[in-house]
Amino acid sequence: MGFCFRSVTQFSTSAIVLVFLISSFSFISTDAYDPLDPNGNITIKWDILSWTPDGYLAAVTIFNFQQYRHIQAPGWLLGWTWAKKEVIWSMVGSQATDQGDCSKYKGNIPHCCRKDPTVVDLLPGTPYNLQFTNCCKGGVISSWVQDPNNFASSFQISVGAAGTTNKTVRVPKNFTLKAPGPGYTCGPAKIVRPTKFFTSDGRRVTQAMMTWNVTCTYSQFLAQKTPTCCVSLSSFYNDTIVPCPTCTCGCQNNITQPGSCVDPNSPYLASVVAGANKNSYAPLVQCTSHMCPIRIHWHVKLNYKEYWRVKVTITNFNYRMNYTQWNLVVQHPNFDNLTQIFSFYYKPLTPYGAINDTAMLWGIKFYNDLLMQAGPYGNVQSELLFRKDASTFTFEKGWAFPRRIYFNGDNCVMPPPDAYPFLPNTSSRKDTSLLTLMLTLLLSLALIFSSIRMLSNKSPERVVHPVVEVSYRDLHTPVIVVVELHVPVHPDRAHVMRAL
Ligand SMILES: *[C@@H]1O[C@H](CO)[C@@H](O)[C@H](O)[C@H]1NC(C)=O
Ligand SMILES: *[C@@H]1O[C@H](CO)[C@@H](O)[C@H](O)[C@H]1NC(C)=O
Ligand SMILES: *[C@@H]1O[C@H](CO)[C@@H](O)[C@H](O)[C@H]1NC(C)=O
Ligand SMILES: *[C@@H]1O[C@H](CO)[C@@H](O)[C@H](O)[C@H]1NC(C)=O
Ligand SMILES: *[C@@H]1O[C@H](CO)[C@@H](O)[C@H](O)[C@H]1NC(C)=O
Ligand SMILES: *[C@@H]1O[C@H](CO)[C@@H](O)[C@H](O)[C@H]1NC(C)=O
Ligand SMILES: *[C@@H]1O[C@H](CO)[C@@H](O)[C@H](O)[C@H]1NC(C)=O
Ligand SMILES: *[C@@H]1O[C@H](CO)[C@@H](O)[C@H](O)[C@H]1NC(C)=O
Ligand SMILES: *[C@@H]1O[C@H](CO)[C@@H](O)[C@H](O)[C@H]1NC(C)=O
Ligand SMILES: *[C@@H]1O[C@H](CO)[C@@H](O)[C@H](O)[C@H]1NC(C)=O
Repeated sequence: MGFCFRSVTQFSTSAIVLVFLISSFSFISTDAYDPLDPNGNITIKWDILSWTPDGYLAAVTIFNFQQYRHIQAPGWLLGWTWAKKEVIWSMVGSQATDQGDCSKYKGNIPHCCRKDPTVVDLLPGTPYNLQFTNCCKGGVISSWVQDPNNFASSFQISVGAAGTTNKTVRVPKNFTLKAPGPGYTCGPAKIVRPTKFFTSDGRRVTQAMMTWNVTCTYSQFLAQKTPTCCVSLSSFYNDTIVPCPTCTCGCQNNITQPGSCVDPNSPYLASVVAGANKNSYAPLVQCTSHMCPIRIHWHVKLNYKEYWRVKVTITNFNYRMNYTQWNLVVQHPNFDNLTQIFSFYYKPLTPYGAINDTAMLWGIKFYNDLLMQAGPYGNVQSELLFRKDASTFTFEKGWAFPRRIYFNGDNCVMPPPDAYPFLPNTSSRKDTSLLTLMLTLLLSLALIFSSIRMLSNKSPERVVHPVVEVSYRDLHTPVIVVVELHVPVHPDRAHVMRAL
């Protein structure tokens, strides 16, 4: 009979984990820099394809170079200010929202005469003669990772009263991108090397007359004052469910804001939801203590000898939104040993090369890529199986909980670290000593013998190989000792797990 001890010497791991937890929670990003997608940006490329008698014809393409932030319905709105007195003669694949004052023009009337035009994508189902490559998706653009075939949107624009050479043309100023609503800040247009276009057979190359690029970056701080999602936590080793912090996204207040939320048990639920302004994208949320449209629940579900399992549930509390192509970004140090994921797609995000602790998760098309509005179908869930890395794994100090979660690119508010469910204890962990270790060993030996007797059904002639796993980090009371017995005759009863 042989047993082996593992990870008996990680004395300082818990302290390191605690420091790491505190440092990652105190970090709140307020500028346009996203630590999980440091190069993420939206680039608007403006290619002049040909000169016209009074201006030029250009193709404008919006590329979403963000790993996980997409542009959802009702889509993007792109605006700019003309440098001179330019007008838009015509557009293909999108339209200006307001024609403006074209009274100067007789006969041929421009599509838009505003000095600061705003353009929108056309809707799906636009007639072929009004379409352009990558157009007509209602302004919806996928993230780069989630759908690499749909991360761009483009349109064609014919500009008049403009320069007709690369010396006289003036680049537009003050680009604005609403996607939808605020959040993006665009830099100035920069003249870059003209784009080269390859024919589909790759046998001929053509070149734009002139090209300029505009780069826009996102800041959650600009986007909205209040958060839009929150995280709740639970575990198999503690009955406490740590809810989302109260008033994360708003407070329930019947006196100053009656009807600010919807009671799911109200007999008038259907009429309240139907009566709400369908065209408004402001959330109409179910009454909860956190008042968030989205809650992510992280449940530490099971502990195996070499693996552990987590269940993640995303719940929609918003009656006014079906989230299409939702995505989740989760940071946890064990993602470098993710072994299996059920019913979500997974892609590791490694913004810093070597550090593989961030995962992007999203739904499977036609199965759960649509997170339905609040109600019985308003949730999606998955389970994650991680392989334990002996040098870092612990259930202590909230290590098993995520460091950071984003839903659709927005940071979700976590409960305060001191509220996390912790391992039950009966005495101070400072008592952990060699004596405790020896005691634990004796106890586990006793357990092994009794288990063998129990399992092998009083047939001592059978050879068994018990493995005792005693992890130092789990040695505060009660000590969790995992005893695994490989008993071929009882394969389904061979694993004995006890918390002493
Ligand atoms: C925008 O993102 C692309 C793709 O990640 C990157 O190549 C480019 O350098 C970024 N542009 C800026 C100005 O950061
Ligand atoms: C304009 O075109 C000339 C030649 O046609 C070229 O040499 C020059 O670099 C171009 N300038 C810009 C800003 O593209
Ligand atoms: C562009 O924006 C800047 C700062 O927001 C503003 O000062 C300037 O007047 C704007 N220019 C035009 C032409 O609107
Ligand atoms: C301009 O944007 C296009 C498309 O994103 C990109 O391929 C090109 O490298 C950019 N040019 C510069 C100089 O950033
Ligand atoms: C608001 O009303 C609900 C039910 O009508 C009630 O349960 C809740 O306690 C009230 N909240 C406040 C802050 O008064
Ligand atoms: C969400 O989708 C369901 C089923 O397609 C539809 O009945 C419901 O009206 C949609 N809700 C919203 C807010 O669009
Ligand atoms: C990150 O970890 C996952 C899960 O073990 C693995 O599949 C992936 O290849 C790793 N990626 C990198 C860049 O190391
Ligand atoms: C976990 O992943 C890291 C990096 O990919 C690897 O070095 C290590 O051996 C893995 N640990 C286990 C227990 O698989
Ligand atoms: C479970 O965790 C909660 C929150 O951290 C804590 O208050 C409670 O004492 C824990 N329960 C046990 C049995 O230790
Ligand atoms: C468990 O131990 C911690 C740290 O020693 C202590 O703060 C906490 O009160 C203990 N919990 C219980 C339920 O005894």
